[in-house]
Amino acid sequence: MAAVNNEYLKEIEGARCDLSDLINRKNCAPIMLRLAFHDAGNFDAKTKTGGANGSIRFPVELANPANNGIKVALDFCDEVKNKHPTVTFADLYQLAGVVAVEVTGGPNIDFVPGRTDSTIPDAVRLPNPNGGSEHLRENFYRMGLSDKDIVALSGSHTLGRAHKERSGFEGPFTKEPLKFDNSYFRELLKGETEGLLKLPSDKALVEDHEFKKYVQRYAKCEETFFKEYAESHKKMSELGFTTKKCCCH
Ligand code: HEM
Repeated sequence: MAAVNNEYLKEIEGARCDLSDLINRKNCAPIMLRLAFHDAGNFDAKTKTGGANGSIRFPVELANPANNGIKVALDFCDEVKNKHPTVTFADLYQLAGVVAVEVTGGPNIDFVPGRTDSTIPDAVRLPNPNGGSEHLRENFYRMGLSDKDIVALSGSHTLGRAHKERSGFEGPFTKEPLKFDNSYFRELLKGETEGLLKLPSDKALVEDHEFKKYVQRYAKCEETFFKEYAESHKKMSELGFTTKKCCCH
């Protein structure tokens, strides 16, 4: 674990301000949030490998087609890293995700610093956009996450869009792709909407009875979505990261 002392906490707060400034200036919240997921989302709870460890910076991991487009976000993070070199890449990428949600109007997410950087790339084990509910469960259960986490975290697609040259899909998921709200769920329940994209993996959330219950709950009440999203996002941002409160365990 990276040494979290007062000096480090000061650098984290500096990085938080710089990220907030940068994300506002560049309107890059969506790709910063996607970066946070793609660094953390390859965690395997059984082998305790992968997770939020900064490994996506390694060219061989970044070059995986699932990570197309993420380089832009890594370059933005490098600008902040240059100003706060002691902040680990792992902390920086997760802080970027947290700040991206906050500056676009989403909930505050509790951020605990101290992630250690991996010195080797991780295996890429991210969900496939053509997958159905079984695939989503396999993928997120491997990370140790639940049905509720799957649906809440998918609500991140309230931000951003797909790019043909990156994923083969094209278009925004919601009408205001720079506003974090519960519109992703409201759009999902409407079915096909002119001009908006629904990935097969998004549609799976309304085709599956268990998932659909959460979609309905979040479409109905934004406050509930924000509260549960913040809990799930915290879990995602801490995959593979354990804070040691005491050195004697
Ligand atoms: C549930 C499984 C998921 C699948 C299959 C999936 C797949 C995708 C795909 C294919 C894109 C379009 C990429 C492009 O063409 O630029 C995308 C975009 C995005 N994803 Fe996901 N995603 C999933 C979950 C998540 C999660 C958990 C998060 C964050 C917590 C997330 C955040 C984003 C964001 C913010 C974008 C927009 C990026 C941009 O505008 O450049 N996704 N996702």
